[in-house]
Amino acid sequence: MPGGFRHGVRAANRRIMRCFAVLAFKETNVADRETIAILGGTGDLGTGLAIRWAKAGYRIVIGSRTLEKAQNAVANLTAISPETPAEAKVNPAAAAAGDIVVLTVPAEHQTSTLQTVRAGLAGKILIDVTVPLVPPRVGTVQLPPEGSAGKRAQDFLGDDVMVVTAFQNVAAHLLKEDVAIECDVLVAGNKRAARDKVIQLAEQAGMRAWHAGPIENSAAAEALTSVLIQINRRHEISHSGVQIVGQSPQRGSARGNPSQEESPQPGSARGNPSQTQAD
Ligand SMILES: NC(=O)c1ccc[n+]([C@@H]2O[C@H](COP(=O)([O-])OP(=O)(O)OC[C@H]3O[C@@H](n4cnc5c(N)ncnc54)[C@H](OP(=O)(O)O)[C@@H]3O)[C@@H](O)[C@H]2O)c1
Repeated sequence: MPGGFRHGVRAANRRIMRCFAVLAFKETNVADRETIAILGGTGDLGTGLAIRWAKAGYRIVIGSRTLEKAQNAVANLTAISPETPAEAKVNPAAAAAGDIVVLTVPAEHQTSTLQTVRAGLAGKILIDVTVPLVPPRVGTVQLPPEGSAGKRAQDFLGDDVMVVTAFQNVAAHLLKEDVAIECDVLVAGNKRAARDKVIQLAEQAGMRAWHAGPIENSAAAEALTSVLIQINRRHEISHSGVQIVGQSPQRGSARGNPSQEESPQPGSARGNPSQTQAD
């Protein structure tokens, strides 16, 4: 690796660490919070989510195919958020250790990774961020035969695991920085209570999140990523995203700022989905 590039990466890491060092660790009793295990948590999106949830007071387990890589990622996370209890494990042990498990590996390794961890997932929520991009035409929607990566994961794992898909349209780079995230999160999964939980986690990580319906609807969020890639290219903007607009009889504009309002009830804000849909 050229020295200049290495220096650039180190400088970027220092910038990120400075950025988060000035944020106060959320005052909360960590013992009361669940453990979030992030499989492939050494990568871009996993790192960003780990930083955000660590700052929100969750216990974090970073999963990797190799313990050493996970340990390095934990060292970086601890430098950013020293108060966060964080552990390194290989993916199967990480999945077993998490109350909630997050899958953040490239689409082509989604099923093979799930195969190695499925024993640790029974009865849990699995948050799947997979976008099934097919290089080189990543700006063209190419969903898998199952309909979506989320549906593929749910079919593979069976009903004992609550697969919930989210974060497909959020740039990892933004998650790592101390910046407001304008892109909303569409949350799909077959169990409403599981979606509620993921909406809460997204909000605690600084994003607005919405019930997007059953796991089949994950296709829409996954496909949107290719659309956003096209928008980034053709309109020369970085990190385009999506926002939901509308009026709620209870809450007014859908685009109200949650930090200035009473904290929204997960799943009930911005229209009450229970009035319009079952699980
Ligand atoms: N990057 C984004 O902005 C973004 C945004 C939305 C959604 N996503 C989705 O998030 C997922 C992760 O994206 P990313 O950009 O974070 O990916 P990434 O950095 O390229 O990879 C994430 C991790 O996947 C693991 N991995 C790599 N090859 C593997 C293999 N053969 N088998 C098992 N694990 C392997 C690696 O962990 P170890 O080597 O430690 O095992 C790696 O650190 C993807 O499905 C992507 O579509 C990404």
